[in-house]
Amino acid sequence: MIQRSQLDLRKFVAPEFICGHGALHLAGRYARNFGMKQVLLVTDPGVRAAGWAGAVGESLTEAGVSFTVFDAISANPRSRQVMAGTEAYLAGECNGIVAVGGGSPMDCAKGIGIASSSMRDILTFEGVDRVPVPAPPLICIPTTAGSSADVSQFAIITDEGRKRKIAIVSKTLVPDISLLDPEPLTTMPRELTVDTGMDTLSHAIEAYVSNASSPMTDVHALEAIRLIASALPAAMAEPDDLNLRFSTLLASLHAGLAFSNASLGAVHAMAHSLGGAYDLAHGRCNALLLEHVMAANYDAASGRYDRIGEILGQGRETPAEGAAAFRRSLGITETLAEVGVREDAIPALAAAAYDDPCMVTNPRSLACEEVERIYEYAL
Ligand SMILES: [Fe+2]
Repeated sequence: MIQRSQLDLRKFVAPEFICGHGALHLAGRYARNFGMKQVLLVTDPGVRAAGWAGAVGESLTEAGVSFTVFDAISANPRSRQVMAGTEAYLAGECNGIVAVGGGSPMDCAKGIGIASSSMRDILTFEGVDRVPVPAPPLICIPTTAGSSADVSQFAIITDEGRKRKIAIVSKTLVPDISLLDPEPLTTMPRELTVDTGMDTLSHAIEAYVSNASSPMTDVHALEAIRLIASALPAAMAEPDDLNLRFSTLLASLHAGLAFSNASLGAVHAMAHSLGGAYDLAHGRCNALLLEHVMAANYDAASGRYDRIGEILGQGRETPAEGAAAFRRSLGITETLAEVGVREDAIPALAAAAYDDPCMVTNPRSLACEEVERIYEYAL
């Protein structure tokens, strides 16, 4: 059982944020307010093609702020991409960063910020509270509803040499302001909507059962679960409905406020390991692991999991079965084996997950062999 009290000391960190239709167009005004003269506009080719980077660029130009675009970023951003962006930031003599996109551009932008201010390789910041120098001002504009990089103190970067993801956790990674606008979400393909939505659900569930949760994070975690359970299927059915898209964005915001302050657990530790080794979509990795971790953790936080089960509904006997039914209802029906994971890779995957900082706050202390069993169930 989790031994904790609501009197335990807890810190709650959040950025300033503005939510609502048209928030994206405030980028120029806030860049100017932060004293930005030359901005590195960090995005990716897909977001650029959808027109959202251009819209932010126009806002910067109208405010008299110059910018250079850096978009050489893939899904699961690599350490070398962060360092290429750092070179672009320094070469352009920039004094601020605006990130437009999903978790990959936002995490990359965070990495560029700390690597450029400390003049160090991004891989040297791995772990918790290891960033000595504050980053330059950062404005985040999410175009997905899931990563919550726009509110969190996390950045996840793939170490290509070791083929694994590293987690950098620091208050210096919290953006200075986030502009939460539902309109960019309307250009997300269906699969991205589903995967990022399952990332939101995983953030909320893991924060709620985390052994670093608090009354403050519980409020946000529960609201995120409630919102995503209803809004995600509805937004998939009506992808152009701004109100439904906004509800998914609010869910992501609540989940981000919860997990940024309560941290995560075994789902994310294991998803980071999987994503690093197989370059799979982060949200999909979470979706394929979530119910199996819930089942393994259940006895350590049964009251909290039962509450989650009530919200997810689905008429199932256990919260894990409710999560599985929700996943299937969104069209995610494959197994880890079906996305290319081999049984003989499991020991190495489990060893990497076991070392991930997210494992520290999992409600149940799992042995490495137990992590292997969970991967096997998901296979
Ligand atoms: Fe996540």
